[in-house]
Amino acid sequence: MAETILAIDIGSTKIAAVIAEVADDGSITVTGHGVVRSQGVKKGIITNIELASKSIKKAVTDARRIAGKNISNATVSISNAYARSLNSTGIVNIPHQDISIKEIKRVMDTALYNANIPNEFEVIHVLPYNFKVDEQDFIEDPYGMNASRMEVDVNIIITQKSALSNLTKAVRSAGLEIDGIVLNSYASALAVMGEDERELGVCVIDMGGQTSSLIVHIGNSIRYNDFLAVGSNHITNDLSMALHTPLETAEKVKIRHGNLLEKSSESIELPVIGDSENRNTISLEIAHSVILARVEEALMILSKSLDKSALREQIGSGIVLTGGLTKLKGIRELAQAIFHGMPVRIGYPRELGGMYEELKDPSFSTVIGLLLYKAGEHTQYEIDHSKTLLHHKEIQTTNVTDIAEFDKKETAPKELKQKREPIDLGLDLGEGIQQNTLDLDQEGDLFAAAGKKREGNPFSRFVNWAKQLF
Ligand SMILES: Nc1ncnc2c1ncn2[C@@H]1O[C@H](COP(=O)(O)OP(=O)(O)OP(=O)(O)O)[C@@H](O)[C@H]1O
Ligand SMILES: [Mg+2]
Repeated sequence: MAETILAIDIGSTKIAAVIAEVADDGSITVTGHGVVRSQGVKKGIITNIELASKSIKKAVTDARRIAGKNISNATVSISNAYARSLNSTGIVNIPHQDISIKEIKRVMDTALYNANIPNEFEVIHVLPYNFKVDEQDFIEDPYGMNASRMEVDVNIIITQKSALSNLTKAVRSAGLEIDGIVLNSYASALAVMGEDERELGVCVIDMGGQTSSLIVHIGNSIRYNDFLAVGSNHITNDLSMALHTPLETAEKVKIRHGNLLEKSSESIELPVIGDSENRNTISLEIAHSVILARVEEALMILSKSLDKSALREQIGSGIVLTGGLTKLKGIRELAQAIFHGMPVRIGYPRELGGMYEELKDPSFSTVIGLLLYKAGEHTQYEIDHSKTLLHHKEIQTTNVTDIAEFDKKETAPKELKQKREPIDLGLDLGEGIQQNTLDLDQEGDLFAAAGKKREGNPFSRFVNWAKQLF
């Protein structure tokens, strides 16, 4: 049955809510959206819970009206502003030599346990980027493999507790429950990356209204993320000051005349701040220099950040720029020069069924990425903000808690959990198979091999099993 999902990108300039239906085959169809101007959000962070909550509510109400669905669980973006990432490693022994979801969860949980998470931070994503099985490195997917030892390297993305709690409050005050929290740049990357780019390594930069965030994605995971509190609004502010014109006019100049490639010698007349009587005649050359200076500086800082990651050499496919600022003419060419000739392209969000024209724009990469995340396009294995292990195997989700608690917890669905105890099969499996007790995964396989069903009630099976012991 189709599932209805709701994604909300809480940006510095706009809040976008999108509702979609996910069909059984995984295809996503957008059914409604609402976009409102952000209030109570600055540089990606909630600065006024009440105002932010009102904007969220309005965007969601608009989306619900179009979709005709009253969904109240939302997957939301969290700004990179107070996010950090750190690497950690986990190693576990595999007693039964068979790697199932339980072992993958255990090794990732160990890596999380080994990490030194500062007190004031909370984990939002644990993303494995290298599985090692026995001595074999870079295993794509360890699931189902036979090994006595498994190791994992993970990238843990954390955010300041206060930022997360304010976001949660604003969303809850809007009458919604959160069913997913995704780092802003992670969501944008999901929406714009192509298959080959993921494989070869890519750097995705989302340049929005007040923020720019950068991630490096290599193999099947994010390896690095960074943040710069500069966005397109800074260009508007610079223009307003340099041209002595109101912000609203400066914004129009930026959008209509902003061009990093060509310098126009034309002049335009602009209103003057605080003087409704007079107008100034301004040469567009000045506007060009102001815009160029700001964007050049931002891109140079981002390029330095990429150097700092020490991953530049591993990025085989280049840079993808997305977010509202990347609609500025000539930004691709300028970025290419600043990033030492690396290939650069502008990233539009992946097109989904039923997607409105308005959403086919780099400003909406994050919200589309949130839908993709919720629909299952997250990293192959991932521990999310609620400590749930997300994966694509037959067991849907399992809760991971404290490492010490881990083995005690009921994690698998009931019938699988029952299979975990050693049991007396109470029958002859035939075809030379001699086995009295077996474990979780083997049992299913052997029954299938023998083509027989388990017989007897649980009590008689227990008595039989007890008899085996004496
Ligand atoms: N052609 C253009 N040239 C430059 N900037 C533009 C252009 N078109 C739109 N913008 C800017 O894009 C910004 C909005 O982008 P976006 O929607 O990605 O931001 P956001 O997600 O709300 O903010 P953030 O990601 O920083 O929290 C606005 O500041 C707007 O002025
Ligand atoms: Mg944004």
